[in-house]
Amino acid sequence: MSNQLEKVSELIELRAKARLGGGEKAIEKQHLQGKHTARERIELLVDEGSFEELDMFVEHRCTNFGMEKKKILGDGVVTGFGTIEGRLVYLFAQDFTVIGGSLSETMAKKICKVMDLAMTMGAPVIGLNDSGGARIQEGISALAGYGEIFQRNILASGVVPQISGIFGPCAGGAVYSPALTDFTIMVKGISYMFLTGPKVVKTVTGEDVTQEQLGGAEVHGNRSGVTHFVVDTGEEGIALIRRLLGFLPQNNLEEAPVKTSDDPIDRLEDSLNEIIPDSPNKPYDMYEVIGAIIDKGEFLEVHADFAKNIIVGFARFNGRPVGIVANQPKTLAGVLDINASRKAARFVRFCDAFNIPLVTLVDVPGFLPGTGQEYGGVIVHGAKLLYAYGEATVPKVTVTLRKSYGGAHIVMSCKQLRGDMNYAWPTAEIAVMGGAGAVEVLYAKEAKESDDPKKVLTEKEIEYTKAFANPYNAAKYGYIDDVIEPRNTRFRIIRALQQLATKKQNNPSKKHDNLPL
Ligand code: HXC
Repeated sequence: MSNQLEKVSELIELRAKARLGGGEKAIEKQHLQGKHTARERIELLVDEGSFEELDMFVEHRCTNFGMEKKKILGDGVVTGFGTIEGRLVYLFAQDFTVIGGSLSETMAKKICKVMDLAMTMGAPVIGLNDSGGARIQEGISALAGYGEIFQRNILASGVVPQISGIFGPCAGGAVYSPALTDFTIMVKGISYMFLTGPKVVKTVTGEDVTQEQLGGAEVHGNRSGVTHFVVDTGEEGIALIRRLLGFLPQNNLEEAPVKTSDDPIDRLEDSLNEIIPDSPNKPYDMYEVIGAIIDKGEFLEVHADFAKNIIVGFARFNGRPVGIVANQPKTLAGVLDINASRKAARFVRFCDAFNIPLVTLVDVPGFLPGTGQEYGGVIVHGAKLLYAYGEATVPKVTVTLRKSYGGAHIVMSCKQLRGDMNYAWPTAEIAVMGGAGAVEVLYAKEAKESDDPKKVLTEKEIEYTKAFANPYNAAKYGYIDDVIEPRNTRFRIIRALQQLATKKQNNPSKKHDNLPL
């Protein structure tokens, strides 16, 4: 064998060794736990044959606790670039088979390298997390590594989409990298995220809690809202990342990709002319409205199980991606509360940062009253949504289906918050407050002094409702641009979006805003 051939075969051997990560036994353990390895995940994620690995020969430099004898090529993370549906992405996948995927100084450097490349090239970064956290033997160097990653997450925020798949443990301060990214995906029974594990919780608070109860996928999917998506399997999680990217541009200077659509733009949905129940207190399902108006009913919901009184997610109109925000009358009558405000505000800001137009469907009785909400700071949280809509410069189309009362009317992408096209169905009720509440304030004295207070209040309520519970008062002032036939909603939204495609609007220049956090 020539010298050169010998060197080539040595390279091939080294590559094969690196690809084995922590070795066959560790890989088997990973599989037994129902988990894929880092490389298997990458294979599922990117277009076939598109992955180019970087830094395969990086090794850690730690010599504490005998670590000099525990060196594995690649050091616990697989990094590189590839394509998804032909579009460039950068990614890193932590390899739990190598020292528990724990983060060393060199591993952080590998991750930072792909993040830097993603920023230079203007492409999304996808992190597939599966790690025991900071590599304990490295101490402060590992911590510093996290600091470097967080700093890049912050600078990349609003520049390139950042997606975090949690495919195993993610504990300690390590959770802050996913928290800084745009979307987090967790797998039931496999992923968990917490700042301090069950043992520390027990010591500090005396609470007995399992990992699953403390920071499992379902906890973060429906209680804390930390994760945006919960899936049943790793494969589903990976498929979701691919689907999600289809709605997003590569970076903040580009538009989201347009797909050809064979769903007619003027498709009439007769069912919408009859969807609003006669009784104002009876709910209907906002998902039915969304499904009826978007292209082929294809909706990618974000935060599906968290704050279900508001619905947010991605869809397409005539092939063009939009972000949908819609009150859900079926849950808590579609009221706005702390969690609904936080959920929708984050989504609106994401869409605005990445040039994705917003379509808002309104049926909101107001903000949820009570001490629970006030003590929890609903004023500040509600202000987040108000702020998000007010600062957004992407095309904003609003359709009011039924109720739109008080502060909630203003918050939900009203005309004064630079709503571009504000439509209402004939069933819309746009007013300061509902009839019952209004007459209690206006006619309490008159009712008290009369022989039949109930009769007075009922009569006045009918009078008030007739006068105010309609879209025409707002339309009279131009606050509603048109009252539309419900079955024609899809066509009117598409026409509005076509008209707004060249919208240019800038906010005053500033160092950064001061969103009410
Ligand atoms: C070094 C680690 C490690 C770590 C795991 N390993 N975590 N090595 N540093 N942080 C090693 C284990 O020693 C083991 O090595 C191998 O990885 C596999 O781990 P197991 O414990 O056998 O796996 P499993 O039973 O599945 O348990 C997984 C685990 C557990 C729950 C994640 O390993 C664990 O509790 N790890 C520590 C978690 C933690 O407290 N991390 C620090 C968080 S603080 P061998 O050689 O036996 O195969 C932090 C701060 C970040 O991250 C701050 C940022 C600002």
